Amino acid sequence: MTQIFAHRGYSASFAENTMGAFFEAEKAGADGLELDVQLTKDGEVVVIHDEKVDRTTTGSGFVKDFLFKEIRKLNANKKGLKKEQIPSLKEVLEWLQTNNLICNIELKNGLLPYEGMEEKVVQLVRSYGLSNRIIISSFNHYSIVYSYRIAPEIETAPLFIESIYMPWVYAQSIRSKGIHPKHSAMSDNIFTNTMDNGIAVRPYTVNKEADMHRLFNINCTAIITDDPVKAIRIRKQY
Ligand code: G3P
Ligand code: CA
Repeated sequence: MTQIFAHRGYSASFAENTMGAFFEAEKAGADGLELDVQLTKDGEVVVIHDEKVDRTTTGSGFVKDFLFKEIRKLNANKKGLKKEQIPSLKEVLEWLQTNNLICNIELKNGLLPYEGMEEKVVQLVRSYGLSNRIIISSFNHYSIVYSYRIAPEIETAPLFIESIYMPWVYAQSIRSKGIHPKHSAMSDNIFTNTMDNGIAVRPYTVNKEADMHRLFNINCTAIITDDPVKAIRIRKQY
């Protein structure tokens, strides 16, 4: 059965990348979460999509210029009533110990170099004993290769915006057990061939019913969606 990963938590209805959105994804019955990480000035791994805090919080400026204690003062639920802090990765991992969710940690190290990010994430995942439930992904494929080198026990998955020739060969060559392509970038045939070659396929970000049907039909490994409730409802038909 195709697994359902809540993209930035249950972000269709709750503030993205907040503990509230993660709790609601679990309550909804998602199989996994997807979240994004950046580094603060003092090296804390924090859960936020953009390099800057402006779009999703009450603050402004780059995440890398905030101390952790400063960034925690911001409200990450700008449009909602209940205040949410930007979560630390530690906070999420601690909570993951209380459930069975899989967690896809996307390293947002494509634009800023964030030296040491891979080591920090790996060390945290190991310290919480969650290596077998974490998938590290990134658009930065150097980082994917490096993550595997320092932590071969943690699954990795390169992210793709466009199609590539025989993605399963590429994934095998960098020792990744999965690929995370933009859902519209690759054909059913490519997805099926990739899975037939033992590589998991978890396309993002699948929000339309028709796209969900397409991927449930081919028994895709997982879909990454903003709306796990909708996805679970549609998956019942398969
Ligand atoms: O992990 C898939 C997806 O989250 C990648 O794009 O911009 O939503 O982080 P983005
Ligand atoms: Ca992401």
